[in-house]
Amino acid sequence: MNPGAPSSRYAGLDLLASSVLLLGPAGEVRYANPAAENLLELSLKSLQRAPLPELFANGQELAALCAQALAHQYADLRQDLSLQRSGREPLHVITSVSALGEGELLLEMRENVQQLKLDREERILDQSQANKELIRNLAHEIKNPLGGIRGAAQLLELELPPQHPADLKEYTQVIIKEADRLQTLVDRLLAPHRKPHIVGDVNIHEVCERVRSLILAEFPAGLSIRRDYDASIPEFRGDMEQLIQVVLNIAHNAAQALKGRIAAGDAEIVLRTRVARQVTLAKVRYGLALDLHIIDNGPGIAPEIRDRIFYPLVSGREGGSGLGLTLAQTFVQQHLGVIECESRPGLTDFRILLPLP
Ligand SMILES: Nc1ncnc2c1ncn2[C@@H]1O[C@H](COP(=O)(O)OP(=O)(O)OP(=O)(O)O)[C@@H](O)[C@H]1O
Ligand SMILES: [Mg+2]
Repeated sequence: MNPGAPSSRYAGLDLLASSVLLLGPAGEVRYANPAAENLLELSLKSLQRAPLPELFANGQELAALCAQALAHQYADLRQDLSLQRSGREPLHVITSVSALGEGELLLEMRENVQQLKLDREERILDQSQANKELIRNLAHEIKNPLGGIRGAAQLLELELPPQHPADLKEYTQVIIKEADRLQTLVDRLLAPHRKPHIVGDVNIHEVCERVRSLILAEFPAGLSIRRDYDASIPEFRGDMEQLIQVVLNIAHNAAQALKGRIAAGDAEIVLRTRVARQVTLAKVRYGLALDLHIIDNGPGIAPEIRDRIFYPLVSGREGGSGLGLTLAQTFVQQHLGVIECESRPGLTDFRILLPLP
């Protein structure tokens, strides 16, 4: 063996899409293919600066894995690792180690996509909770002086001399009306944290039927709401009124987006219920979950707000307050579930996943 020129020995590995490294007996990197350089975001030169495990803050796990493979001459030893890199996110990799003989080890690394997805979801959850906290505090701060402003405007109106020009009263009316509008907004912002959680047995199809009749009452012509139910879905514990609000807010958005098609007479909303198995919701794994879709054939969510629709006060609609989806998300999270959305012109699909017993 000639450790001086391993790259020529392993030239074929350069073409592989998976990441491969060749280590010497002390863990030193003798060769890394370009895919490995990419994955680890380190050039071959940097990789060769120190034994591979020493490049990571928690390298001892990797070192232990290598030592084990060497000691027992395993052909393929596999482990999930989260490699800590200074100043960057940890790298989640599924690592296989094979002993090649003469103290050499072949390492194969694959990115652990599932772990990456969980990390991202966790970050989004943290962020949305921080956002909601901020909004709630802000709403409280606005609410307190609002009553005073409205009251003062009313008093002012009473104090106006009888022969005053009519437009003075218009001014006080503007103050009162705008204060009322703000009051409604603030009340909606605070609503999800006020109402008590009333838990009972929920039949999801009862929820869907209620929403269906409410929407059809508001949009009696040009819109059809198709049911696609899986009757085998069991009842679960939850707050029925909250869940109605969730589905109603989403279906209501759909109906509003369908305006054009309602006029043309071919607007459709589909309420689909299914069972999902082995899903992870907000970091917890469940054997069984409700998989509810609310699908419309409208124009899709405007691209400029697509990533932010669940944030409070984000609206793409004239006169919209941008709270419908924030509320829906809060309620779903209170039920330990998640809410997701996919949208393109002609098909918008809101998906709610809730744990089932
Ligand atoms: N099915 C849909 N099709 C197209 N756009 C949608 C759909 N659902 C939501 N949107 C977009 O997302 C935005 C945010 O919705 P959200 O319900 O949070 O607020 P809103 O409807 O604007 O106001 P409100 O607080 O009255 O519900 C909407 O304004 C709309 O632009
Ligand atoms: Mg809405």
